[in-house]
Amino acid sequence: MMGPTIEIARDAAEAASVTARHFVALARERGLVPREGAAAAGELHIAVSGGSVATSVVPALVDAGQEAGLDWSRLHVWFADERFVARGHDDRNAVPIVRALRDASGFDEQNLHVTLTSDAGVSLEEAAEAYEQELRETVPALDLVLLGAGDDGHTASLFPGHALVHSPDPARLVAVIRDSPKPPPERLTLTLAAIGDARHVWAVVTGAGKAPAVGRALSEPTPTVSPLGASLHTANGEGRLLIVDELAASQVPGSAR
Ligand code: 6PG
Repeated sequence: MMGPTIEIARDAAEAASVTARHFVALARERGLVPREGAAAAGELHIAVSGGSVATSVVPALVDAGQEAGLDWSRLHVWFADERFVARGHDDRNAVPIVRALRDASGFDEQNLHVTLTSDAGVSLEEAAEAYEQELRETVPALDLVLLGAGDDGHTASLFPGHALVHSPDPARLVAVIRDSPKPPPERLTLTLAAIGDARHVWAVVTGAGKAPAVGRALSEPTPTVSPLGASLHTANGEGRLLIVDELAASQVPGSAR
């Protein structure tokens, strides 16, 4: 298995701008940035996470995309994971994402693929099935999954040692978790299979507290020990990118920091 390309930024702000630069390059490559004399083309399907990815990285993507003249109507936004709470609840990862996308001129709200909420009259399992069906019907594979990580090495809502990563159902793209070690307990998450299918998987991980998790992701990238590491390793490592700041990079092998 090959690991990700690693980029070490000075701090969290620089990590967000490095990610934004990669995002604009990908959008350009896929035709979303109009070239001289030619209209924008194509579509880009990205899945985003909560935490600082939602509150800092996605706003940086939006700023950089605005500057580059990206045609936002061609972007589809999905969720790498979402908490199963009521519509409008502050715990939803969708809340900061909706806020950030307000600055993306021309973004089509129809292209924001939110999960069903706990007050929609469906069970958690039904919400996961509906999300999986929507994903399957819309796109063969996600273009980009943008991940964060917790101090424990969880990514999306895939927690180290949890049964969900230990014995995953390879047929599922979206799974439920009812006992998330980090509250709230009920969540939906992309599975490692869905993340593995994506063309690009980028993890943005910053802060000293995450250094051990980053070290494990590179040294022991099994689903049980490090869902973060498992998400970033493939047969050839293509499209896998780990963007860390200097504090989170202290256990990156070969890093002199
Ligand atoms: C959640 C959070 C969580 C978060 C990580 C990293 O669903 O509980 O979204 O998974 O993404 O803990 O958070 P930070 O990037 O803010 O450190």
